[in-house]
Amino acid sequence: MFQAPLPLEYQGLSPEVMHERIVAARETLGKRVVILGHHYQRDETIRYADYRGDSYKLAKEGAALADAEFIIFCGVHFMAESADILAQPNQKVLLPNLSAGCSMADMANIFQVRACWNALSKLGVAGKTVPVTYINSAANLKAFVGEHGGSVCTSSNCAAVLEWAIGQGEKILFFPDQHLGRNTALAMGYSADEMVVWDPNADDGLGGNTAEAIVAAKFILWKGHCSVHGRFTVSQIEQARKKYPTVRVVVHPECRQEVVAAADDYGSTERIQKLIRESPNGSIWAVGTEINQVNRLAEEQKVNDKIVFCLDPIVCPCSTMYRIAPSFLLWMLENLVEGTVVNEIIVPDEIAVNARKALNQMIAVAG
Ligand code: 13P
Ligand code: SF4
Repeated sequence: MFQAPLPLEYQGLSPEVMHERIVAARETLGKRVVILGHHYQRDETIRYADYRGDSYKLAKEGAALADAEFIIFCGVHFMAESADILAQPNQKVLLPNLSAGCSMADMANIFQVRACWNALSKLGVAGKTVPVTYINSAANLKAFVGEHGGSVCTSSNCAAVLEWAIGQGEKILFFPDQHLGRNTALAMGYSADEMVVWDPNADDGLGGNTAEAIVAAKFILWKGHCSVHGRFTVSQIEQARKKYPTVRVVVHPECRQEVVAAADDYGSTERIQKLIRESPNGSIWAVGTEINQVNRLAEEQKVNDKIVFCLDPIVCPCSTMYRIAPSFLLWMLENLVEGTVVNEIIVPDEIAVNARKALNQMIAVAG
């Protein structure tokens, strides 16, 4: 989405001035405002978060914050949309910078998903297919899933959701991240032969597959990916092991299959944090996820003599998460103090109803 530039008076402020004004505005607003921060937010922004977490934890925690009038989401657009869908009717969810999207979420849109579903219908398999969308998707895709008896999932509960979905039908259509779908299904004991990849840009009406392959497949994985996690390679893991023979390698399941297979462990951003925090003092960790989270963990764990570093030697920030700069947060807070609501994320009711079904289905499964 498009974000208008900040008013001139918010540009070029020193970090100290910004900090003082953010603290002052928050004091004025008190409990009317709660700030959520995803683990990929930069230090200068996440320091103001009342709650930090992975996308599941923030979706659940946001839903439980019934008292706050405003939920400011320091994360990306699909997270703020989910928070709005789960929020109380009197609450407003705000995203400090509207251009904070997710390139993976943009790899599936409602027209493409409907076209895929129509193709499955023509093949006679849509009725046995349960759609599952990663939370990294637009609200109208969550609504599509809710309308067709499926569920949302996040990286922390994908296996549980797939297990549930398999109990509901014979096939899963999983979008938009092929890697999360593949990595999870493989870990559950399914084989690569049971999966096909649906390319929404193929012009054969079959996503680049034969009709027989689609009919035979257990999992139809959408051809989407995260460009940040796509940077991690097996060779980086080998280098890390060469340099530190005792290193533990943990990666996010949005990484490619061979990278997840070469790592010691994988999990959501919250799980990565937990694993590192709970490891013995002196542990060494090579991490395959976004750099702001890795650097923060490295800094935090120095006192425990742990070495934590990013697998990718060339910095790999999520550029859209990075757009939530403190200046945008200040602008939003000072506007609220003046009684003006900026950047409210509103999911229309006709979409929210079914999207809520799909999110609540995930919560019911994941707990
Ligand atoms: P988590 O749910 O693990 O926080 O992941 C969100 C995400 O976008 C990772 O790229
Ligand atoms: Fe999207 Fe990748 Fe950024 Fe996560 S890291 S928000 S999947 S672009």
